[in-house]
This record gives sequence, C-alpha cells and structure tokens, in this order.
Amino acid sequence: MSSVQTPAFPTLPPRPAAPDLSSIDPRLDLEAEIPRLKRQKNAVLLAHYYQEEAIQDLADFVGDSLDLSRKAQATDAAIIAFAGVRFMAETAKILNPNRKVVLPDYEAGCSLEDSCPPEAFKAWRAEHPGAVSLTYINCSAAVKALSDIIVTSSNAEKIVRSIPPEKEILFAPDRHLGAFLSKKLGRPMTLWPGTCIVHEQFSEREIVRLKAQHPGALVAAHPECPEAILRHADHVGSTRSILNYATTAPGKTFLIATEEGIIHQMRKLAPDREYIPVPPDNGCQCNECPFMKLNTLEKLYLCLRDERPEIVLLEDLRAAAERPLLRMLELS
Ligand code: 13P
Ligand code: SF4
Repeated sequence: MSSVQTPAFPTLPPRPAAPDLSSIDPRLDLEAEIPRLKRQKNAVLLAHYYQEEAIQDLADFVGDSLDLSRKAQATDAAIIAFAGVRFMAETAKILNPNRKVVLPDYEAGCSLEDSCPPEAFKAWRAEHPGAVSLTYINCSAAVKALSDIIVTSSNAEKIVRSIPPEKEILFAPDRHLGAFLSKKLGRPMTLWPGTCIVHEQFSEREIVRLKAQHPGALVAAHPECPEAILRHADHVGSTRSILNYATTAPGKTFLIATEEGIIHQMRKLAPDREYIPVPPDNGCQCNECPFMKLNTLEKLYLCLRDERPEIVLLEDLRAAAERPLLRMLELS
C-alpha cells in the first residue's frame, strides 16, 4: 500500500467539546428525564446492543448496524439521539440529513474506523483499478464516500454473492470478516488489515475450557472474531442473528463471543437459558467495547438537553457517502 498524498475530502468541522457533566443537577432522576426530553423534543432514541443496560431499556429501538440504519432512514422524529458509536450516528445523518443527529459522546469511535484513514484507502483503491470495493459500515463517512457498496455483518454474504465472479473484490477494513466471507463463499478477496480490538481478544483456550465445563453448550460468535474462534462456533452472524440464535435455537447453554452488552436482550427474551460471555485472553474486561461504553446515562441526558454533540457533515461528503449506503440497502 503506498503512502499518501492529497486529502480525499475537505476538512470536517472542528470536533465538538466534551460533555460538561458538572452541569447536571444531581437531584435529577435521569431515567425519568430522558423520556421526558424525548417527548418534549420529538426525539427518537436508537441504541446498539452493546450499550449499557439502562440505555438499552430507555431506547425506542435496539438493533444491529443494519436495522439501526433502516430505522434512522425511516424516522420522521425531529431529533435522532444515537446511542452507539460515531460511525453509526454518521450513517443516520447520511441517510436522513434533515434530522438533527446527536450522540452522547463524540469520541465514541471504533478501532476498525481508526485502522482505515481515507487517504490511505484512496491510495489502496488506486492500486487496484477495476476492483469493486465492499466496505464494512464500521468506517468513516469519508471512506464510505470512496467505496462502491457498504456492507454490514447481516448482509455482507448476500452482497458478495451479487458481485460477478470475474471482478476483484477489495474488502475493508475488517480482515477477519473478510476472511470469513472469503472462506465461506470460496471467493478470493483483497483484504484491508484492520481488526476490532474487542473481537480480536476472545480466547480460544477459554472456549475449549468452557465447552468442557458445559457439555452441550453452543457457541455463537460475531464474524469480526478471528478464525481460531470462529472454527469453534455453532453459529456465526451479526449481533441480531446471534440474539435470534441464542434465544430460539434448541439448547440451554450458549457461549457468547461478542460484546457482552447483548446478553441483556437475551435475558429479556429467553430468561430460562444460560448465556456465558466468552472471556478475553488476558483477564481484562476487553469484551466490553471501550468506545460503546463511553456513552452513559449522564451523557445521553446532556445530548438530549443541549442537542449536542451533533453530527455535522459537509453536503458533498454526505451525498457521496449516501450512494454506497443506498446501494447496500437496495441489495440487502
Ligand atoms: P452488528 O452490525 O452485528 O451490530 O455489528 C456492529 C459492531 O460494531 C460489531 O462490533
Ligand atoms: Fe468497533 Fe469493535 Fe467496538 Fe464494534 S466492538 S464498535 S467493531 S471497536
């Protein structure tokens, strides 16, 4: 990959200031204030499965990246409060530009997005003329704008199958998802070397130990996990499909190899089952996404009260990023 060059897009507006937590009246009941502000401002609260439990419980809709994109596109609420990471809130703004989109913490990024700067991505594409670029939704608006089709873990398989076999596929930025698709579909792909810092940490040794401890337990894993984890999985899929599997497949005990926030919905939907989070290799809390967990009830309250931080995109960039997202929605 050659090094860079000219900026792919003009500079974005400056990053918003950090939320001022000291401005919150400590006597407030935030679990009552948040719904009140939502009603008062005609706001919809969309949350990803990796959000903390209290945020999931206040949301109008909890979902995976694809379902959240569809909800964001369809809403006629005046404000979309997006409890997820920044690329998800940006996607909401790209698809529904007339809504104000706010998020609790603007610094809620993603290691996959960080691995793929737009200038380097642009250079990579230039080295593969004629290739189709399929890009995972976990990337910046600028990288979306430079891509042909966006995919999520829910629809990637279907979209890869739609590409004529003679076409080279460039897949960015998650190399594990790319390798999983490539192996499953027998389709060679050129992969960007990005990874998710959460899904990369799960321990194969722990899965083997847990399976021995819980005979008959079934393993559900997200395709952002490395092959060493996926080869133990009975089911591989997006967060929504992991949720469906663990709550409906015949079985009693499920080992969950994705961010453990999703277990909250599993317990709500099928409380009589056992869900065991697969631990990471090193005894840390690395199966919690540090970006997702930047969002807290306090910051959610502030973003609704103050209507910031807000996602603001230059129109040229937004329109260019919308094209491959609409392509994705058509093909899904
Ligand atoms: P899903 O599309 O499966 O919700 O994945 C989003 C994500 O960031 C997983 O780490
Ligand atoms: Fe990004 Fe991984 Fe966090 Fe998902 S879990 S938002 S891929 S860092």
